Amino acid sequence: MSALTLPVARDLADWRRLRPRHGTLGFVPTMGALHAGHLSLVRRALDENDACVVSIFVNPTQFDDPGDLAAYPKTFDDDCAMLAELGTPLVLAPTADVLYADGYNVRVSEHADAAELEGRHRPGHFDGMLTVVLKLLNIAGAHRAYFGEKDFQQLRLVRTMVEALFHPTRIVGCPTVREHDGLAMSSRNRRLTPAQRRLAGQWAALLADTSLTADQAAERLVGLGFAVDYVADRWDRRLGAVHVPTLGDGRQVRLIDNVPLAAPGRRP
Ligand code: PAJ
Repeated sequence: MSALTLPVARDLADWRRLRPRHGTLGFVPTMGALHAGHLSLVRRALDENDACVVSIFVNPTQFDDPGDLAAYPKTFDDDCAMLAELGTPLVLAPTADVLYADGYNVRVSEHADAAELEGRHRPGHFDGMLTVVLKLLNIAGAHRAYFGEKDFQQLRLVRTMVEALFHPTRIVGCPTVREHDGLAMSSRNRRLTPAQRRLAGQWAALLADTSLTADQAAERLVGLGFAVDYVADRWDRRLGAVHVPTLGDGRQVRLIDNVPLAAPGRRP
């Protein structure tokens, strides 16, 4: 099936026409630039439900840095082609006008976990993320929604929001998919030069080396040239965020990741 023939809903009227009337629906929210990590969520949603909808929306309100938003890869046709190969997921790709008709005057905030780690380094990021996720969950009306452990703090906050607001969609956490050298798959990886990409493998290895303390791992990362936002042990995980050095001709790219500290296989 070509990208053009995948069923795509651009607004609520389209979605009302497309949305399945019977059976269970699984939902995978994404910002596009799909890779094998996203596809693992889609496969699971297809396995566990009668139908699956994938949203593709680069959400402006969760970018604290306009440069990062401008540089975020937009590959809609390729994304649809990858999805079409998995079966027949539906695509929800609303415009910002549709999602933010209120001008982002209504927002969702969490005031405990959201203040630290990513929240401390990216002011406003989690308000934007939670707000768009709630809008998308309400529109999709799915039985289950699938989120990656790769963004562990995000997954925690989405669970907290859904419980606090009695949202009926069940949140399913899915394991992180990694490259051969352990680097977590990410849409931002495609912005790395080959030299930066090699160094990014060392970031993944150091974060996963839990024989080191978090501070020791951070020190070694600084020694390799990374700017470290944080490496911290929280929620039985080691979580980290770094900026990969430009190494001459590259751009600065920010990467986040986390690994379990205790019993493997435990779900958040
Ligand atoms: P995005 O970064 O596109 O990620 C979409 C989903 O894919 C998230 O649940 C993320 O955790 C998951 N994911 C990304 N890389 C993964 C990997 N290597 N292995 C497993 N899962 C992975 O996260 C967002 O978009 C946005 O914040 C969103 C929730 C769509 C709200 O705008």
